[in-house]
Amino acid sequence: MEIRFLGHSAFELTHDGVTVLIDPFLTGNPKAAASAEEVAADAILVTHGHGDHIGDTVAIAKRTGAAVLAIVEIAEELRADGVENVRDPNLGGTVSFEWGSAKLVPAWHTSTTPKGTVNTPAGLIVVLGGSTIYHLGDTALFGDLELIGRRHAIDVALMPIGGHYTMDRHDAVEAARMIGARKVIPCHYDTFPAIVTDAAAFQADVENSTASEVIVLAPGERHAL
Ligand code: NI
Ligand code: MN
Repeated sequence: MEIRFLGHSAFELTHDGVTVLIDPFLTGNPKAAASAEEVAADAILVTHGHGDHIGDTVAIAKRTGAAVLAIVEIAEELRADGVENVRDPNLGGTVSFEWGSAKLVPAWHTSTTPKGTVNTPAGLIVVLGGSTIYHLGDTALFGDLELIGRRHAIDVALMPIGGHYTMDRHDAVEAARMIGARKVIPCHYDTFPAIVTDAAAFQADVENSTASEVIVLAPGERHAL
């Protein structure tokens, strides 16, 4: 299984010819490592409706025919926008695909789509190729991260560290401790001036105080599990 960081909060997971995109905000993303016209997708998973997450979901889904998973209120908007293969769980729900599964878990944040649909933000637990990936979405630090880490053996946590709109790199150290993932990949930082932070300091702090290994990926870089 391979993880490619596409910039900001966007990731591409690939295994055995299957491509899963998470939060494909590429158009208008100053750190985008690929364009919406070139990425492949069998499935697109959306943590919440903010523009920097729902991003190019509709265009990529229409071009590729990818299945799209998002919380029910966003799912309804996607259907209305002409996306044909939509999966619409709510928090706590797990959806099975031919390639694996995706589950929505709580995240503390707010969310309205660019079109005005109010929705509850989420994190995603994705199982692909025998690995469990936890994308935290745009959450603040909260106590149930520990519960999520206890319930799921997380191989890789994709974790926001930029602050301002999400938890910052200091809160994220505590989040990493609570989740207990084998590996942590930071995201949602350095895209815009408000979320510039020191990823190397985050890496040092996590590795000095938890058992997790931190993998800092530049946009476009891959990590193989
Ligand atoms: Ni957001
Ligand atoms: Mn965001």
